[in-house]
Amino acid sequence: MSQRSCLSVILAAGEGTRMKSALPKVLHQIAGLPMVAHVVKAAEAAGAGDLALVIGHGAEEMRKAAQKFAPKAEAFVQEKRLGTAHAVLAARAAISKGYDDLLVMFGDTPLIDPGALTAARLKLAQGAAVVVIGFCTANPTGYGRLIEKGGKLVAIREEKDCSDEEKKITFCNGGLMAIAGSQAMKLLDAVGNRNAKGEYYLTDIVELASNQGLDVVATEASFENALGINNRAELAQAEGIWQARRRQEAMLSGVTLIAPETVYFSHDTEIGADTIVEPNVWFGPGVKIAGGARIHAFSHIEGAIVAAHCDVGPFARLRPGADLKQKAKVGNFCEVKQAVIEEGAKVNHLTYIGDARVGAGANIGAGTITCNYDGYLKHFTDIGEGAFVGSNSSLVAPVTIGKGGYIASGSVITESVPDDALAFGRARQKTIPGKGKELRERFASAAVAKKR
Ligand code: UD1
Ligand code: CA
Repeated sequence: MSQRSCLSVILAAGEGTRMKSALPKVLHQIAGLPMVAHVVKAAEAAGAGDLALVIGHGAEEMRKAAQKFAPKAEAFVQEKRLGTAHAVLAARAAISKGYDDLLVMFGDTPLIDPGALTAARLKLAQGAAVVVIGFCTANPTGYGRLIEKGGKLVAIREEKDCSDEEKKITFCNGGLMAIAGSQAMKLLDAVGNRNAKGEYYLTDIVELASNQGLDVVATEASFENALGINNRAELAQAEGIWQARRRQEAMLSGVTLIAPETVYFSHDTEIGADTIVEPNVWFGPGVKIAGGARIHAFSHIEGAIVAAHCDVGPFARLRPGADLKQKAKVGNFCEVKQAVIEEGAKVNHLTYIGDARVGAGANIGAGTITCNYDGYLKHFTDIGEGAFVGSNSSLVAPVTIGKGGYIASGSVITESVPDDALAFGRARQKTIPGKGKELRERFASAAVAKKR
């Protein structure tokens, strides 16, 4: 089947009014990726790499976004929304290039499984002219019903055009169709708009093909495959299903999730076997975690790389560019941004490390801050291998601390420190015997005088 050429047409011209949003509906995200990009990924995974994107509402924003998630897709504008068949025909120029297979998908149906698309393409390879991906539901209201006769699919009837008898059918159109390229143009051009909504229905090609004696089949997929997002409640429902699938996949690949329902992944999270993730952890986009790491509770991780056997959190925040090498530790209430924490280095408590390198085996004391920003530019802090930074120090960048350098607690370091040097950046302590007692007495009598 891999030799068969395939074009995917993704319909995304709808307005999505029920989202109540300035953002085009299909750009709302699931797992940090626009829902239409999930559809693109599924198409690509099913070997349908040539893409036509039909846009309308918010066309400019859509074009811009598509450059990121589908740079090779060709965009077609459907000026007036006259129905799903009309929308597919907006991509006429692409379709008429002549493909073996044509897949039609909806941009607002993000949980489509590539397996269902592959199965549909297989039916085309076996000679079907039209393949409809259907699903069964106890509550079919709103969906097109699949009308079968003698085991053959003969028509799809939209809800508004159904008889009472047809409304009882629970086998529904998921909205995804595979059409033989050789028949596609002819069938689509024959669709009319004599129906309750006055629209050109893509679903009418089923009856047209069936009447011509062509082979039309319905394949059944699970309900999720057809879950269309119309409002933010459905968006959250889809997010929930996506997360549940991903957690399952992570656990089966050897990742321990102590409370899986509280861990959130992004579309691109990579996480190695034997890593343990404690409850309430958030993975934003761009995270790669190697095996054998431990991510403690309530950590927020985004754009970060964590090598094997690292220890992160609880309550750690790893921001984009955080790069933890093997066995590094970033502990509670620490934030790391655009910084390499070399092998075995420890950043354990209440610390900000930004635009920096922390050398192998270095120890960063509680409350250390890299002062990386002067209000205009970001500056770099380089901390050498085996250095020791005493608690509550401010390292004012640009600054370098040499290998094995030692920083006294409470220092403000503004000048670079050579290898193995000790630097104090604070006032020297002065101790006056008996002075504490004297002060206490003075303050006490002042208070008595004031009360009188
Ligand atoms: C459609 C199917 C229905 C199926 C259901 C599954 C048709 C006629 N009906 O109904 O059988 O059960 O999906 O969810 O196909 N679009 C355009 N341009 C248009 C019209 C639609 O781009 O002119 C896009 C929409 O943005 C959307 C998709 O096509 O992404 C589906 O359109 P929609 O109006 O939501 O179809 P349904 O009534 O849900
Ligand atoms: Ca819909």
